[in-house]
Amino acid sequence: MGIYRDVILPKLCDLSMRNERLHPYRERVIGAAEGRVLEIGSGSGLNLPFYRPVAQEVLALEPDPTLLTMARRVPYSGLSVDFIEASAEAIPFEDKSVDTVVTTWTLCTIPGAATALAEMRRVLRPQGKLLFVEHGLSPDRGVRWWQDSLTPVWRRISGGCHLNRPIQSLIEDAGFRIDRIETGYMRGPKPLTFMYEGSARPN
Ligand SMILES: C[S@@+](CC[C@H](N)C(=O)[O-])C[C@H]1O[C@@H](n2cnc3c(N)ncnc32)[C@H](O)[C@@H]1O
Repeated sequence: MGIYRDVILPKLCDLSMRNERLHPYRERVIGAAEGRVLEIGSGSGLNLPFYRPVAQEVLALEPDPTLLTMARRVPYSGLSVDFIEASAEAIPFEDKSVDTVVTTWTLCTIPGAATALAEMRRVLRPQGKLLFVEHGLSPDRGVRWWQDSLTPVWRRISGGCHLNRPIQSLIEDAGFRIDRIETGYMRGPKPLTFMYEGSARPN
């Protein structure tokens, strides 16, 4: 289990997240990040090249030290980045101290997703934005059946990823008002590819 979790899983995470079909999502979501940005579960740093100059500072929070090491090697320019080894359930920042929180395909994996979202809300300034793209629960009954059935096994092999998290209600229940949301399938197996992309503000 040690080698799988510590060596193989981070490599699999990096490889799967390099999928080029994710680039348009990264371009839109990361391109809208402004000011002091907190990126949750920054993984192997694949979002770093997508930030624009309006992102003055990026705080890349990631609990996995192997992924953080990979992220430190990603080339990016003109961006101030701090890498922080921490979990989203206990964000080591002051209340109302960031302008944008970004999460890309992390709410499926964070064990305490509701606690993590409450933390994101706590550290966001009142006019700040939560920008997100996540995969999650499908509205189609047949696909949901597969998502519910596969999740117990999928979680074990994928490092904790749930296929069936209700992303919109998780965000709203944490005290956010959704400004914009787009949902739909990306190309690929339907249980894995129902996407929620959008932005929200603290209530
Ligand atoms: C599917 S990867 C996505 C990585 C990256 N956001 C991207 O778009 O390439 C899920 C990420 O969530 C991270 N993660 C898992 N548990 C977490 C937690 N408690 N707090 C923050 N991030 C967590 C994982 O380590 C991993 O980097």
